[in-house]
Amino acid sequence: MIVTVTANPSFDRTLRIDRLERGGVMRGEVLHNQAGGKGVNVSVALDRAGVATRALVIADPAELDGFRRHLDRPIGMEAVPTAGAIRTNLSVVEADGTTTKLNEPGPTAGPETAAALVSAVRSAASAGATWIVLAGSLPPGLDPAVLAEVIADARDAGASVAADVSGRSLEVAVGAGVDLVKPNLGELATLAGHDLTDLAAVEQACLRLLDGGVGSVLCSLGADGAFLCGSDGVSAGEAPTSEVRNTVGAGDSMLAGYLAAEHGGADRLDRLRTGLAWGRAAVRSSGTGGVPDDDDLAAATVTTSPDRTRRVEIHR
Ligand SMILES: Nc1ncnc2c1ncn2[C@@H]1O[C@H](COP(=O)(O)OP(=O)(O)OP(=O)(O)O)[C@@H](O)[C@H]1O
Ligand SMILES: [Mg+2]
Repeated sequence: MIVTVTANPSFDRTLRIDRLERGGVMRGEVLHNQAGGKGVNVSVALDRAGVATRALVIADPAELDGFRRHLDRPIGMEAVPTAGAIRTNLSVVEADGTTTKLNEPGPTAGPETAAALVSAVRSAASAGATWIVLAGSLPPGLDPAVLAEVIADARDAGASVAADVSGRSLEVAVGAGVDLVKPNLGELATLAGHDLTDLAAVEQACLRLLDGGVGSVLCSLGADGAFLCGSDGVSAGEAPTSEVRNTVGAGDSMLAGYLAAEHGGADRLDRLRTGLAWGRAAVRSSGTGGVPDDDDLAAATVTTSPDRTRRVEIHR
């Protein structure tokens, strides 16, 4: 069982309008209205991969049924109680393709919520979760320092911990020595404190995290693929495609594919290859996911001796 943690879930709604005019009233068509948040996305993808999973979400328990109804698939979910409505993140897409995002902060979490989060993760790990996946941002009021306790407890109870978080939360996760981090290139560069312009620089930044006690680093590089670095060596790969429809959440699918392969006992090259195939399937699908087909699996190539002079850049 892989248990994901989404501290600040959201209803992700996409509205298509002709043209956005500041101060005007515009009517649009709802393209997409789904329950989301990075951990939830990872659980949905794991469920598609046939891996047992459950999502912990910080939310008012009274809202959980309504939230679950907005999922693609009815995954197991548990609320870590907080007061206040689940936020809505609105994307407005104009006819020319311009996308504007309006994100709510989410309800403010109090100290009881932090304590409930620690206890819910500890219970999940004690009940035999193989991985705890911490993914996405924290709500206002929740100090990233709480993640250190969450991580230590989960690992004490025998679970491995993966973190797909950014900023201060990523620093805390690294400091706590998580088993796996999944930064994208921008997040890794922010953590390193300088630009990373080729694979050699990415490798150096990853090795610093390993020295600091992180088990493995899976750095996603957008269209340039991904770089994996662990005590058993480095590998890199890509799964190019010209059919890019939606890159939002590709990192979540990539992480889910990697963990699903790990769960199935795959070696590190196969884990990376599977993660890349899931990332490619995600960008080719117009929604927030998609199961890789034979074409995605065939397109993913990996190597243990990457060309370290290869340039990489942050894709926005
Ligand atoms: N243009 C693309 N072509 C092929 N694969 C892609 C492309 N963009 C992303 N991917 C795949 O998705 C993976 C994750 O992408 P990326 O590095 O953009 O993640 P991310 O920034 O964490 O995304 P998010 O946080 O929105 O889920 C990449 O490692 C790659 O496998
Ligand atoms: Mg990401």
